[in-house]
Amino acid sequence: MSSTIIDGKSLAIQVRDKVKDEVNILESKYSIAPNLNVIQVGTDPPSLVYVRNKQIAAQKAGMCAKDIHLPEKISQKELISKIMELNIDPGVHGILVQLPLPYHIDTGKIIDAIDPNKDVDGVHPINIGRLSQGRQLFVPATPAGVQRMLLESGINPTGQHVVICGRSNIVGKPLALLLSQQNHGANSTVTVCHSKTRDIANFTRQADILVAAIGKPLFINSGMVKEGAVIIDVGINRIDDRKRKNGYRLVGDVDFDSVLGKVSSISPVPGGVGPMTIAMLLENTLLATRLAVGDLTTEY
Ligand code: GUN
Repeated sequence: MSSTIIDGKSLAIQVRDKVKDEVNILESKYSIAPNLNVIQVGTDPPSLVYVRNKQIAAQKAGMCAKDIHLPEKISQKELISKIMELNIDPGVHGILVQLPLPYHIDTGKIIDAIDPNKDVDGVHPINIGRLSQGRQLFVPATPAGVQRMLLESGINPTGQHVVICGRSNIVGKPLALLLSQQNHGANSTVTVCHSKTRDIANFTRQADILVAAIGKPLFINSGMVKEGAVIIDVGINRIDDRKRKNGYRLVGDVDFDSVLGKVSSISPVPGGVGPMTIAMLLENTLLATRLAVGDLTTEY
C-alpha cells in the first residue's frame, strides 16, 4: 500500500497565515497586539529550541512574544510570584510555562497558579475540566494540532478506534478527552495505553488511528500496526548521529521506515505534529487576546 505522508509543516503555515490575518484585524479594531509570555526555567537544550521557535512564530504572526528565562535554582515560591505578576498585567494575554520543570518544583502547583483565562497551553485544571465536559476554552496545543491534522487530511475520527500510547497531562489525556467528545471531528472510541499496559501491541494493532506519544524513540514498528491504519507520531527524540554536525538527529516514537508501505497515512518527524503544535498555540494566544478585549462570539 502506498502511504500518504501528512505534511504538518504546510498545514501549519496555512493556520499561521490565518492567525496573522486575524491579528491584523484585531489590531485595527482595538489597537492591541496579542502578547505571549513564555517562561523557561533552566537551560534544558531541547526546551531552549522549542521556546525560541514559539517566540519566532508568534512574532511572525504579528504578536508580541516575550521569553522569560529564569535560573534553574529558582524556588517554587519565586516562580509562582512571577506568574502572579503576569496574571495581573493587563498587557499580557497568554502565559505558557515550558515543561519539564526542575525536580524541586511541583509542576501541578505552578500550573494551578496560571490565570485560566491566560492559560494558552490549556493545562490548568479548569481548562482540562472544561475540555472533559465538551465546553473547552483553550485546548492543549498538541492534541488540538493532532485533531486539526486529521481533519485537514480528510481523516474523520468519527466511529474510529483511536489508540493513544501515552497518558501525559499535556498530550495523551487531553487528546483522549478531545477525540471522545460528542462533537464535530471527534466521536471516536479511544483506548489509552501506557508504560504499564500488558501486551501493548495487542492494542496498537487494533487501532484505526494510532497516536504515539510515549517518548521512546522508534518504539512502534511494522508488527505493531494494522494494515491501512493512520499513524500520528507525537514523539520528538534526539538520537546520536555522528554524521551530523550537531551530533544528533530527531526521530519520532514510530519507526517510520518500518511502517511505511503498510499504513495509509503517517505524520513524519520532524515536519508533522511539531509545527502544528506551534500553530495551535498561536490560535490559543489569539483567543486569549479576544477574551481579554471581549471580542468573542461564543460565551465562556
Ligand atoms: N514541553 C513540550 N511540549 C510542551 C508544550 O506543549 N507545552 C509546555 N508548556 N511545555 C512543553
